[in-house]
Amino acid sequence: QPLHLDPSLVEKNGYKHHMLREIYEVPESLMRTLSSVQKKYLQLAARLVTGADNVYIIANGTSLHAGMVASYYFSELVGVNPVVVSAAEFPLYYLENIGPGSLVLAISQSGETGDVLSSLYEAKLRGATILGITNYVGSRLARLSNLYLPIAAGPELAVPATKTFTSTLLLLYLVALRASRQEGRIDEDTLNSKLAAVAEAARQLGEWLPKVDSEASKAANEVSECRGGYVVSRGLTYPLALEGALKLKEASYFHAEGVEAGEFKHGPFVLVEKGFGVVFVVPVEKVSAEATYPLVGMALEAGAKVVAVGFAGDQSLEALSEKGAAVVAAPPAERHLAPIVLAVPLQLLAYRLGERLSRPIDSPRYLTKAVTQ
Ligand code: AGP
Repeated sequence: QPLHLDPSLVEKNGYKHHMLREIYEVPESLMRTLSSVQKKYLQLAARLVTGADNVYIIANGTSLHAGMVASYYFSELVGVNPVVVSAAEFPLYYLENIGPGSLVLAISQSGETGDVLSSLYEAKLRGATILGITNYVGSRLARLSNLYLPIAAGPELAVPATKTFTSTLLLLYLVALRASRQEGRIDEDTLNSKLAAVAEAARQLGEWLPKVDSEASKAANEVSECRGGYVVSRGLTYPLALEGALKLKEASYFHAEGVEAGEFKHGPFVLVEKGFGVVFVVPVEKVSAEATYPLVGMALEAGAKVVAVGFAGDQSLEALSEKGAAVVAAPPAERHLAPIVLAVPLQLLAYRLGERLSRPIDSPRYLTKAVTQ
């Protein structure tokens, strides 16, 4: 029973914590996800997405953030706009609209999260089709699904999810690409070049990890005295702001909040001053990035410790470094891969801060790997 694996009995392969080992396993986990999911099942999943009257994505925590990124993928690549909702909210407010034409895409690393499972029972009773995404093929989520796709990240023992997040994102991207192909929105060559770009991004990430880690360590030192902070982004990387803030809370007990950049001046800015940290995940859309830079300047002027996370080679990232921001740069990749690649610097930042503050990184208090009730 994988959920009951005792983390203390599993080798850390020389790493101090499972979380760090699992972050370093992100590239190989991505390659495993890419090579294990069978084309015929991706095609079936893609048909379910494009053929449904309405699509709901339900999940909790990190898996919910993956679902939020997926809504951008489905919207941009397929023209399908799913409703993304916490599995805890779904049965209370959304069941009225669920019927035989509905697709419920349920994401759960463990496949045992109580709110996800109870939502699925209700949705099934109303005739919905269930597409499950899970890392455990023997889980109840897999058994309740009409079709499930394995994340194939390998066992994840640290409570803060890392490699399963990036592999889940990849799996959802693969479904969106396949649906896009089926709908005739992209041709076979484009699809193949996008798949090749995934493999290349995973390879580069593997090469870059030590450098990203050392920059993340420096950035963690910078914010370690701060009493709290924000993680700010917009667009495709906005869910990463929420995810980065969640990782900071879990791994380092650092109070952080994810903020959509457009909302920054509508309230959150009021707390920014000396002793406050602001992590900017530089948006990958040029126009969004340009709208975000002034906010970085405002945070620096207000005396905050600023960390800028983005793709290496981005000149504005270098300019931010000159202005006093601690920069954590990841290898550049295609725009749709940004949530995958840029998740890693945020995971390392949370890990290194937790290490510096001597937190129980793999097993934060009160939390369990699967919230079954
Ligand atoms: C992730 O770091 C958290 N431990 C938590 O939010 C988790 O993602 C959530 O409980 C959902 O778990 P699941 O993916 O196994 O359903």
